[in-house]
Amino acid sequence: MTWVDELRRREEACRRAPSAHNTQPWMLRYREDAVDVHWDPARELPDSDPTRRDLFLSLGAFVEACLIVAADAGLPVRAEVAVDDAERRVARLLPAGAAYATAFTTAALERRRCARGAYEPGELDPAVVAEVAAGADLRRVPCRALTGELAAADRHMFGTPVVAAELREWLRLSPRHPRYALDGLTDRAMELSRAEASGLAAVLAPGVYPLARRLGAPALLAAASRGLLRYDGSVLVLVGRAAGPDDLVEHGRALLRVWLGLSQRGLAVHPLSQILDCAATADRLAAVLSPAPGERLLAVFRAGRPLREPVRSSRIPPVQ
Ligand SMILES: Cc1cc2nc3c(=O)[nH]c(=O)nc-3n(C[C@H](O)[C@H](O)[C@H](O)COP(=O)(O)O)c2cc1C
Repeated sequence: MTWVDELRRREEACRRAPSAHNTQPWMLRYREDAVDVHWDPARELPDSDPTRRDLFLSLGAFVEACLIVAADAGLPVRAEVAVDDAERRVARLLPAGAAYATAFTTAALERRRCARGAYEPGELDPAVVAEVAAGADLRRVPCRALTGELAAADRHMFGTPVVAAELREWLRLSPRHPRYALDGLTDRAMELSRAEASGLAAVLAPGVYPLARRLGAPALLAAASRGLLRYDGSVLVLVGRAAGPDDLVEHGRALLRVWLGLSQRGLAVHPLSQILDCAATADRLAAVLSPAPGERLLAVFRAGRPLREPVRSSRIPPVQ
């Protein structure tokens, strides 16, 4: 069996990588002595992620996951990141002289998960933040400082019709949804009660949303998450230079390493990308964090010890 076959047998584990809206945009093309990582344009988020920041971060996380799985299996594999827009390829996995050096395992990838419910109170220890950052520029902000910004970003998200429509497309608010076990965001992953899930589905329904929007539904939906940051916890912000898609893919790799490092310490994350997707809240947060010239904010997420065990998110099984 070649290393390509060995990696193929383990594709399911690679697919545990995180992706925005759980779109799982990756596609693997197996060659004789290489594996190409492409993306599926049907799984892009053109309205919520017009700059493709989250697309390339997610694909970077996937590349990192492939390297971890390969290393865990003792396969010497490296990644050559080079985004080719015409081919929709982000990277090529190639044979290497030695296995990829990583502190993480396939089991760690399996254990990692986002948690969107309540966390234990307490700010993250700066020493832990520095350890998991492992050289990346990771800033710590008290949750409470972002309460108003999250509400403003949520109002913007729920109040922008194309963004709300795209979110609706990826929501799986009832176990009866035909893609519930495959992709997207389930009611359980979002820790919504039955009533909350039904309410969200009703407000976002195509026939209802335009009127609900005029009647102030976005503010109401934003109010529902107002309590989320009202505790003594930490939000972490990944900052870096991202001149082009290759840089974003590399930051996506770093982002997964940070999330795995936190997970190893029993800490989960809850990404709050809407704060970066709304120009006003993104600018205000950047003004507070003042990234170096040429650098920008790449990912924003709450991190801490969840009070309840988060659910395991769904994935599309590999085509064998
Ligand atoms: C780049 C990126 C951006 C994300 N943004 C958000 C977000 O704004 N809100 C959120 O709840 N989850 C966000 N997520 C988390 C995904 O929804 C999550 O990874 C996916 O649903 C799979 O779940 P899991 O990470 O628990 O396996 C993001 C993930 C990535 C990689």
